[in-house]
Amino acid sequence: MSSAVMIAERRTTRTGSAAVPAALLTESLWKSYRMGVTDVHALRGVDLRIGRGDFVAIMGPSGCGKSTLLHTLGGLQSPTSGSVVIEGSDLAGLTDAQRTELRRRLIGFVFQRFNLFPTLTVEGNLRLAERICLGWKSAERGAKRRLELLDLLGLASKRGHKPMELSGGEQQRVALARALIHEPAILLADEPTGNLDSENTDNVLSMLERVHEELGQTIVLITHDIDVAEAAQRVVLMKDGAILDR
Ligand SMILES: Nc1ncnc2c1ncn2[C@@H]1O[C@H](COP(=O)(O)OP(=O)(O)O)[C@@H](O)[C@H]1O
Ligand SMILES: [Mg+2]
Repeated sequence: MSSAVMIAERRTTRTGSAAVPAALLTESLWKSYRMGVTDVHALRGVDLRIGRGDFVAIMGPSGCGKSTLLHTLGGLQSPTSGSVVIEGSDLAGLTDAQRTELRRRLIGFVFQRFNLFPTLTVEGNLRLAERICLGWKSAERGAKRRLELLDLLGLASKRGHKPMELSGGEQQRVALARALIHEPAILLADEPTGNLDSENTDNVLSMLERVHEELGQTIVLITHDIDVAEAAQRVVLMKDGAILDR
């Protein structure tokens, strides 16, 4: 076990059981945004531990800091103070380039907007993500993984379709496949059903459950909707930049 992992595990005593290694760990996490002459404190000392393989929903009202937390957990933005440890690596100890590399390797993101390339087919969108995350050298393995993911997410028959020819739920499933193309250990989803009707919401949630079951990813699902949060094994409540319950 590396010393970084041991440090990470020691920290878990305050935030939960150390029986399962932590996929994500934060300690005293603060994030403030400067707005003119005032500071908006989006995160106010968040201590959170998410075990490897957990499926956790983070729920709270609009503006409570959910997206800020998710972006900070995924290394997309740096905290004002406090620490984020991803799979044993403390982000504070990494250079920008190392952080980017770690994010590419370990994390898949899904957002409320699907952000698919409209001129590419489903398969083309996945290929592009593969090249960005994995480079050209993995093309052969990529073809097999692409098919498996499309199968898992019920998209095999839609391989040649463009995003416009798909329902919202199908588009989000493509975005989900894209987020998983490099087999990340952690999937971070920010209101992935926020743009979907109830039928498509159910459909995307059951796909998330299937992904969790079949691939064993650690999943963090952000939502303001209790019905959506129920898809997860554990619900963490947030209010005013802090965690109420875990
Ligand atoms: N880039 C930013 N600049 C300034 N304030 C921001 C920025 N992003 C978020 N905020 C503020 O931080 C708080 C938390 O926002 P956010 O994390 O987006 O909450 P949520 O995702 O729960 O709706 C809000 O008050 C929001 O206005
Ligand atoms: Mg948000």
